[in-house]
Amino acid sequence: MAAENSRRSGVSEEWRCVGPVEQLRKQKCRRLYAEAGRSQDVALFYVGEKFYALEASCAHAEGPLDQGDIEELNGCYTVVCPLHFYEFNISTGKSESGLRQQTYEVKQEDDNVYVKFGCEPVHLRRPERK
Ligand code: FES
Repeated sequence: MAAENSRRSGVSEEWRCVGPVEQLRKQKCRRLYAEAGRSQDVALFYVGEKFYALEASCAHAEGPLDQGDIEELNGCYTVVCPLHFYEFNISTGKSESGLRQQTYEVKQEDDNVYVKFGCEPVHLRRPERK
């Protein structure tokens, strides 16, 4: 899906540093704000000692997935949209509803987390340091 989005906008995907691993793993989910607008925001999850990134606005009616409950069944994590309770697999973005949430690649390098983001030339806000 990320590649499709990239092709639509004509901008290549880039790895963007979104903050230090140590800080980002303190929360199961947080919203990464994109300068290009709310529709480009990313929900970054940290579950099962791994990071995942999904488009933050629900594919159904733009509910905030970063505010959804996270459930685990047999090592498979889902986020439940707080608006109409559709569930999305955090790893694949798939839902039994037939909808699919855009996913983004995530990597850890040099103690930082990077999200491969490929639509507009946006900058993800880094979390504030204390
Ligand atoms: S907006 Fe997410 S399920 Fe409706």
